[in-house]
Amino acid sequence: MSDREKNEVRRVGVFYGGVSAEREVSLRTGAAVAAALRRKGHAVREIDIREDWLGTVRDAGVDAAFLALHGRFGEDGCIQAACELARLPYTGSGVAASAIAMSKVLGKRLASASGVPCPPDAVYEGAGIAGAKPPSFGFPLVVKPDREGSTVGVTIVRGPSEWEEALATAARYDSRVLAEGYVPGREITVAVLNGRVLPAIEIVPKSGFYDYRSKYTAGETEYVIPVPMERDILQRAAEYTRRASHAMQLRGAARLDYRVDPAGNVFFLEANTIPGMTETSLLPKAAKFDGTPFDDLVEEILSDAGLSK
Ligand SMILES: Nc1ncnc2c1ncn2[C@@H]1O[C@H](COP(=O)(O)OP(=O)(O)O)[C@@H](O)[C@H]1O
Ligand SMILES: [Mg+2]
Repeated sequence: MSDREKNEVRRVGVFYGGVSAEREVSLRTGAAVAAALRRKGHAVREIDIREDWLGTVRDAGVDAAFLALHGRFGEDGCIQAACELARLPYTGSGVAASAIAMSKVLGKRLASASGVPCPPDAVYEGAGIAGAKPPSFGFPLVVKPDREGSTVGVTIVRGPSEWEEALATAARYDSRVLAEGYVPGREITVAVLNGRVLPAIEIVPKSGFYDYRSKYTAGETEYVIPVPMERDILQRAAEYTRRASHAMQLRGAARLDYRVDPAGNVFFLEANTIPGMTETSLLPKAAKFDGTPFDDLVEEILSDAGLSK
């Protein structure tokens, strides 16, 4: 059977762009996904969505939506809800799962309830942010907006003198901000694809901090696969990924970020429900290492497009 006969979807809308801080990344993800879908024989419409989100979804004129959006409105349950209302099958996690995973606080609560270790945190909201006292778990800590991505608004805070500015920075991006215990050591990310946990990738930023620049400037970060770490640590990270993604009811492709401290303890930071999908992004790297080339990965994500998930 050809790919087309196996898959009943014919007209696919790739929704990309968006209005979040991650628009530029989404443009690249969308272009790569659209090219792969065309190579697979689909009739593809690229839909750069900037305004009138409801009208764009309703009038898309396609059989399925491949969501290649990141951040607010695209990854947080909003466009997923628009697709539900329009009865347009869409890729990835459903409305509730997307909204929960978008919130670092809520994602950690569900992960933690399923037995996945998370760093301690304190949450500040609205008028309670300015003038808030540092949490009792002390410094160093990390201050971040609850619902952002790409390390936007994230500050590593070494001591009290940096506290107030870090809060103000995070508050520029979200009305809810969290302070989290800093986990020294190494960083790994683990992807899950339609319930299958993929091999971990270690992230080694030259600057020591995996910030926006380290994420999107070629050569600024080394990505290591397979990860040179004890087997039992990696097995634990895989098990945490299974549990956390199940607890959050994630679907399709997702990527979970972890810190690993010098004693080998693994801590869950956050889940990304629409991970970057350029050919050099992390999820495609892990899939390729696992034997799934980019075009097949895209097709596999599309195969899980649906409603009421
Ligand atoms: N608790 C922490 N300890 C150490 N580093 C952290 C911690 N939280 C975040 N970081 C660093 O900041 C980066 C961005 O944080 P993350 O929670 O993944 O948010 P984002 O959604 O912006 O990717 C991480 O990749 C990591 O390098
Ligand atoms: Mg992250």
